[in-house]
Amino acid sequence: MSTTEAKQVEAKMIPIYVMGKKYEVPESLTIMKALEYSGYQYIRGCGCRGGVCGACSTVYRKAGDYKIYSGLACQTVVEPDMYLTQLPFYPALRGTYSFETLQGTPEEVFALYPELFRCVACNACTKICPMDVEVMDYIAALKRGDIKAAAEISFDCIQCGLCASRCMGELPQYHIAQLARRLNGTYLTPPAEHLKTMTANIDAGRFTEGLGQLKGMDLETLKSTYQEREMEPAVGGEDWTPKDSQHL
Ligand code: FES
Repeated sequence: MSTTEAKQVEAKMIPIYVMGKKYEVPESLTIMKALEYSGYQYIRGCGCRGGVCGACSTVYRKAGDYKIYSGLACQTVVEPDMYLTQLPFYPALRGTYSFETLQGTPEEVFALYPELFRCVACNACTKICPMDVEVMDYIAALKRGDIKAAAEISFDCIQCGLCASRCMGELPQYHIAQLARRLNGTYLTPPAEHLKTMTANIDAGRFTEGLGQLKGMDLETLKSTYQEREMEPAVGGEDWTPKDSQHL
């Protein structure tokens, strides 16, 4: 018996139901792993398996409980008598735009997503968010024309779309927030001057010789060079610039 099989024998098994059929699965599994353990294969609706990509949003029920629960299948651990099924895709409409022609104004957001003003502030979007994003708050910020605030409030959004699944105003909140972050990053945030400087340094060949030296090092020299490297100061500290072209 392999180690994996031995662990499965030791694990406490619990019943779950997948599309009405009962399966016994180890209690420590996530919904995603429990479905795979039961013989299902994810072809879509599965990406990072780490709670970051938002591909695996799902809903489930529990025995004797009228509520519909939601979560990320790759993060939510199964419970006894959990009822699982496949979640159909939520057709949240995304505005079509050529980003280069935008200028970062609230009017552009309103024109692309007029449904913003159908929000009735019920807060169902915030309650369902698996990332604890204050979805209703960023929608309210956008209604006020505050793109920057919307971008900042929605920063942790993973685009899973659960917010749209509950919205009685039929808003595609996560698509709107993505537009806000794009506009904020491109038009409303000051350009990163240090990045320009560094790119110019690279183009001017200031690191070419140093990189050549690094490539020629054996592993041990490379490791010690890395450990002894000059550290970039923390955010808010002095600007870091290479002393000369030999800097490694
Ligand atoms: S698979 Fe990426 S969040 Fe679950």
